[in-house]
Amino acid sequence: MNYLSIPGEVEEIIRISKREESYYVLEEDEGLKKILDELLDSRILVCKVRAAFSLGDENIDFQWAPSRIGSKIYEPSNEELRELVVSKYLLPVKISESAEIDLSALDGGLTLIVGRKGSGKSNLSKTLIVRIIEHGGRCLVFDINGEYEPTAMRSKFLVLKPGENMFLSIAGLGKELFITLMETIMGLPPSSVWELRRILDSLENRGSLNLKNLWNEVFFGKFNDLVKEALIRRLTVLKESGLFSDEATDLDKLLREVSDKAIVINLRGLPKPFRQLIVETVLNKVVKMLEDGEIKPLFLFAEEAQSYLDEKTWEDYITRMRHIGLSVVFITNEPDSLMKFVYRQADNCFIFSLMNENDLSYISKMSKIDAESLMSLVPTLPVGKCLAFGNVTNNIPMVLSVEKENVFRTGGTRKVLLEAVSRN
Ligand SMILES: Nc1ncnc2c1ncn2[C@@H]1O[C@H](COP(=O)(O)OP(=O)(O)OP(=O)(O)O)[C@@H](O)[C@H]1O
Ligand SMILES: [Mg+2]
Repeated sequence: MNYLSIPGEVEEIIRISKREESYYVLEEDEGLKKILDELLDSRILVCKVRAAFSLGDENIDFQWAPSRIGSKIYEPSNEELRELVVSKYLLPVKISESAEIDLSALDGGLTLIVGRKGSGKSNLSKTLIVRIIEHGGRCLVFDINGEYEPTAMRSKFLVLKPGENMFLSIAGLGKELFITLMETIMGLPPSSVWELRRILDSLENRGSLNLKNLWNEVFFGKFNDLVKEALIRRLTVLKESGLFSDEATDLDKLLREVSDKAIVINLRGLPKPFRQLIVETVLNKVVKMLEDGEIKPLFLFAEEAQSYLDEKTWEDYITRMRHIGLSVVFITNEPDSLMKFVYRQADNCFIFSLMNENDLSYISKMSKIDAESLMSLVPTLPVGKCLAFGNVTNNIPMVLSVEKENVFRTGGTRKVLLEAVSRN
């Protein structure tokens, strides 16, 4: 928003400073004084045409300039805008008193939530999850900050913490997946993979496939010392991780049965290889069950996705997701850490405040929004407000405020000084 620049601006400025003296003549004429004051205070709004709606015509093409005589310039009311935009949504859902999105656009799509630390990304994620569940959808969340733990959230979220109330077993993973994970995550060399497979086969035949038996077989087995050492080192890490137990969590059952809550996997504090192990295990299960039609479509919320799976693996999942009924929401505060293909393929974006110019230009290069809009709108967004575009807003970029879900109190950065203040 700028002040209307009237020709002779300097003259105007001088006139303002001399106002008292120069206006005395007009003092009597209140009407004229009011008009002059208004003129002096006029502002001009520089706008960008986002869409054109012509009455009776659904088209939002705007290659033409409207007639100057036949048009009227005014600010449409909320109701009017709602009628023009929101009424076209397939599933309009409120994310605050004043803002609605088309929730159906998340279904089968790829969605991004980006913004700097503390800008309100997690709050929006939780709001979306709650809305999805309310509408009969099912959600899976990879939580790296452990922010779904508080008791107040138990009615909406089922939190699984690996090593505490979630355990893996070799039998549950399946022989092939276990071998793949040992190769890719634990870096087991090919020479040892052969031996591992042999031992697993024999354990499976005897119906005693578990980590303890595997460890014993390796430890007391008679084979090449280097191979043995490579296996023992890795199996020791697995044993000590506390992630494996004979009474493994029945993920299949959970995925099939839990429908009124989001399943949250709390990855907080786990070293990267273990995060990767858990995430790969869960995603493998999910994808397989979706492919076999064993479970209904699922929404996956992944915070800082790059911190537990690499680019190639994600690209693989994203390529397959649309066909199998997996909708993915990526959430990050480091826009350039997200893979480029994610931006190009994104169907929906929610951009919260970002100050860094590199981040902004990175996003504008990758996604369906122009740099100008991004630069002018995003840096000044307050906490809880975001620029949304894509199918969620019928392809019209909109600044939306998100309501603060008041049961969700954690997730913000912990501050020791303020905690001390509130104690006193
Ligand atoms: N819509 C909102 N209205 C008011 N306060 C909000 C809103 N959204 C978030 N907040 C507050 O701002 C703080 C940060 O919110 P949130 O945890 O959602 O940010 P974030 O972007 O996920 O941050 P981080 O990058 O650290 O994960 C929280 O204390 C939260 O209560
Ligand atoms: Mg967060």
